[in-house]
Amino acid sequence: MPRIFLPKLAHELIAEQLQVGDTAIDATVGNGHDSAFLLAQVGLSGHVYGFDIQAAAIAAARHKLTDADNVTLIQDSHAQLAQHIRPCHIHNIMACMFNLGYLPGGDKRVITQAASTLAALTAASELLVVGGLLTVLAYPGHPDGDQETLQVAQWCGQLAPERFSCRVFDSDADNPAAPRLWVLGKAKERA
Ligand SMILES: C[S@@+](CC[C@H](N)C(=O)[O-])C[C@H]1O[C@@H](n2cnc3c(N)ncnc32)[C@H](O)[C@@H]1O
Repeated sequence: MPRIFLPKLAHELIAEQLQVGDTAIDATVGNGHDSAFLLAQVGLSGHVYGFDIQAAAIAAARHKLTDADNVTLIQDSHAQLAQHIRPCHIHNIMACMFNLGYLPGGDKRVITQAASTLAALTAASELLVVGGLLTVLAYPGHPDGDQETLQVAQWCGQLAPERFSCRVFDSDADNPAAPRLWVLGKAKERA
């Protein structure tokens, strides 16, 4: 089986969905690659929110996105993301990306944690507009990552299928420690 490069697949699926003028969230800014990708999709008339708990990540992303005035970078846990979204963007988020784990080139002890990840996924899934996409790229293969991946799988499994479609992609189906991508699509608001 060919291996799938999941960050690229996440970008391809989101690029099919996002249009100029849309609003998107990068829930784990890191070095800003995903934020830059989202900004390119939404254009000058759109808006991107980016969250990271690390000052180093926010600084790196701010440096990368220097010219953009339609991005809001927030140094806070994504568990708090709902508190930072402007009222006009609530239930109007077309895409939200989670790229879990640690900051490449940064402090590997600072990683996403299952409890805050699940809180953020719950908040983000509610903020999506009908038709919006949420991607979660998880990295098992170490104890915290295994635990987080398992809990993300369980969280996705409990979603009402009439409200969210759910697809999962393995980068290497023969290797349980390989990265995994979930792609959720919002089909309907809560009744
Ligand atoms: C794999 S990196 C993200 C890569 C990034 N999307 C990019 O394009 O470069 C994961 C990031 O999640 C951040 N992070 C960890 N816990 C977090 C939390 N509770 N809320 C927001 N970000 C968090 C880390 O600081 C790290 O920068």
